[in-house]
Amino acid sequence: MTAIEIQDLTVRFGRRRALDAITADFGTGVHGLLGPNGAGKSTLMRVLATLTAPSGGSVRLLGHPSSDADLRPLRREIGYLPQEFGWYPRFTAREFVEHFGWLKEVPAAELMPAVDRSLRRVGLGDRADEKLKRLSGGMRRRVGIAQAIVNDPRLLLLDEPTAGLDPEQQDEFRELLRELGRDRCVVLATHLMGDAEACDRVLVLDAGRPVFQGTPAELADGGKLADGYRAVLGASRAGAA
Ligand SMILES: Nc1ncnc2c1ncn2[C@@H]1O[C@H](COP(=O)(O)OP(=O)(O)OP(=O)(O)O)[C@@H](O)[C@H]1O
Ligand SMILES: [Mg+2]
Repeated sequence: MTAIEIQDLTVRFGRRRALDAITADFGTGVHGLLGPNGAGKSTLMRVLATLTAPSGGSVRLLGHPSSDADLRPLRREIGYLPQEFGWYPRFTAREFVEHFGWLKEVPAAELMPAVDRSLRRVGLGDRADEKLKRLSGGMRRRVGIAQAIVNDPRLLLLDEPTAGLDPEQQDEFRELLRELGRDRCVVLATHLMGDAEACDRVLVLDAGRPVFQGTPAELADGGKLADGYRAVLGASRAGAA
């Protein structure tokens, strides 16, 4: 089954179109969302997380229309790391991830093993009992990734998960991405070309419009990925002018 089917999706905020006529399908694998600040990446993520309703077009997630009256069964299958999220300073890493597992209705008997597994997967197995306020910014980001995977989601949405991670952690995270993408649909928004290289496919947005869909190799077009990325943005702007 195609995990995500997006048909002619438009999202308006007042008169501004944050997303403009997006059509795309995402299956199993890791899908990167690229684009400059304000391109619409987080807006698309929020639509996929069922938090923002489309102004036009339609979205199907794991076979369910995102306009379903009862979104609970669908949301149980989704993991989402927002670009910015509130964290509870007094919670320990374990309590924080446990809280999200509970919200996702992970069965009680599976909850604590799932929490510990998620924290180990992001390299925080030995810091699980530390309060969030005592962790570094990058470590808190990793706790955010851990909460997104605690319910073993079939659809995993990560909005700039690598922002603030050190290079070693970025490498480990990309390894984890590849592992997670083997049997589920992962969508990540990023500004890092290193993340994009770890994706199976990428979608480049500019001012709410899709300007490229394909593999990172196709985007690089025989050169460096960053150059290919700049070229598609330049070409779309030249076309729009
Ligand atoms: N709640 C909102 N109300 C009004 N405008 C919004 C809202 N959310 C986003 N926008 C606008 O929609 C456009 C897309 O924003 P979005 O946050 O999706 O971009 P982005 O690609 O995630 O950018 P960044 O790389 O900075 O995270 C921007 O013009 C933004 O100002
Ligand atoms: Mg964003």
